[in-house]
Amino acid sequence: MREDMTKKEIEAMPIEEVVAKSNLRHIAFIMDGNGRWAKKRLLPREAGHKVGADNFKTIVRYCKKIGMECCTVYAFSTENVKRPQREVEALFRLLISFIEEAGEEKDIEFRFIGEPGELGETIGKRTRELEEATRGRPYRLNIAFNYGGRAEIVRAVNSLIAEGKREITEDELSARLYTAGRPEPDLIVRTGAEMRISNFLLWQAAYAELYFTDRLWPDYTTADVDEAVREFASRSRRFGGLDAADAVRGV
Ligand code: FPP
Repeated sequence: MREDMTKKEIEAMPIEEVVAKSNLRHIAFIMDGNGRWAKKRLLPREAGHKVGADNFKTIVRYCKKIGMECCTVYAFSTENVKRPQREVEALFRLLISFIEEAGEEKDIEFRFIGEPGELGETIGKRTRELEEATRGRPYRLNIAFNYGGRAEIVRAVNSLIAEGKREITEDELSARLYTAGRPEPDLIVRTGAEMRISNFLLWQAAYAELYFTDRLWPDYTTADVDEAVREFASRSRRFGGLDAADAVRGV
């Protein structure tokens, strides 16, 4: 529990103020539960991904509105290619149509983290073009696509080895990650009732607060974001140290 703001005060504050006062700059989402959402409705899994993709836009826009600097979403892991071809192709189509409509987003600087280019020439070209066209914009969005956290770290280490380094620092490694130059996540939200990280932002999550909810991603709402943000604000982040008050008291 933090000591400068009580739970009651946090509940009463406008959400933008909660974001600002708690120094929350970056939320990352593990968008889980599309398949179960579809199954409950006797629909194909792809229908869940479609609603999930629409919801992803709503949530990302909302995070910007309440004052976030950066947002990351886990849209496709390196393991997801093992899914049935029909589902994988549906996810690729959703990505392409998302990129085609991304012109609507005026403030977003897009970055694709992972190796989307390995999934085909079209995806590689479109993702690169969107990154280039939106460079320098204020709100940063990382879309993890064909992403794996361990592979990201190995790639970073290999690039340092290739430069001839024999000993490395944390800063050097961070600077070789896909997320270089962007803030680390303060809060990681996973929907869909699973409580694991699933190879997502392994390095960057070192001090992130974790938040798990049973809500399936297509049902996840902006009110749910507020709930996670208020919970984040009520936690005391010590980064391995002590609360200021405890440090002074020596307890
Ligand atoms: C996990 O749910 C979700 C995914 C593997 C894909 C997430 C993708 C989106 C929300 C939309 C994609 C957005 C873009 C821009 C392409 P699951 O399928 O594992 O659900 P389940 O656990 O209920 O089966």
